[in-house]
Amino acid sequence: MRRGWVDADERWPQRAQIAARMIPAGASVLDVGAGSQGLASYLPASCRYTPADVVRRTPATLLLDLRRGPIPDRTWDVVVALGVLEYVDDVLAALRLLRRLGRTGIVSYAIYPRDRRQRRLNGWRSHASARTLGDYLPAAGWETLGVSRWAGQRIYLLR
Ligand SMILES: C[S@@+](CC[C@H](N)C(=O)[O-])C[C@H]1O[C@@H](n2cnc3c(N)ncnc32)[C@H](O)[C@@H]1O
Repeated sequence: MRRGWVDADERWPQRAQIAARMIPAGASVLDVGAGSQGLASYLPASCRYTPADVVRRTPATLLLDLRRGPIPDRTWDVVVALGVLEYVDDVLAALRLLRRLGRTGIVSYAIYPRDRRQRRLNGWRSHASARTLGDYLPAAGWETLGVSRWAGQRIYLLR
């Protein structure tokens, strides 16, 4: 990835708060592409939080590469992927992999900017439209329960 996540976008906590509001107390939560694990601070204290990332940022981080697996042989009540699908080439395959990890899902995707050159400058490798995402989700086995819009992104609540 181009810059790494040291200079994380100051708006990401807003996205994490939107996601956290969708997560019930007591849920087990797998946060894929957890980064600095901001989501954890917005969850009800009774949630059991597991961070996962392609980079082991903390000792507790489960190493997981959404592009190729392998994935843990267990499931969580909620699998979350915020700001991650942009960095994989095959979004459908990644959604399928997420489907195996969570009974419900909260997944964000940056629909905008649409311009591919701009997306590549962000380090993004996927360029799906909202319509394509709408096709991929059921193909990956997800049913969409709700969609929130935030800063040019969609945040999907799935089961
Ligand atoms: C834009 S940051 C988002 C961090 C966090 N989810 C948030 O919203 O604040 C993207 C994160 O996804 C991770 N990531 C990138 N590619 C990945 C992959 N193939 N599998 C798992 N994690 C990945 C990065 O290491 C980074 O921590």
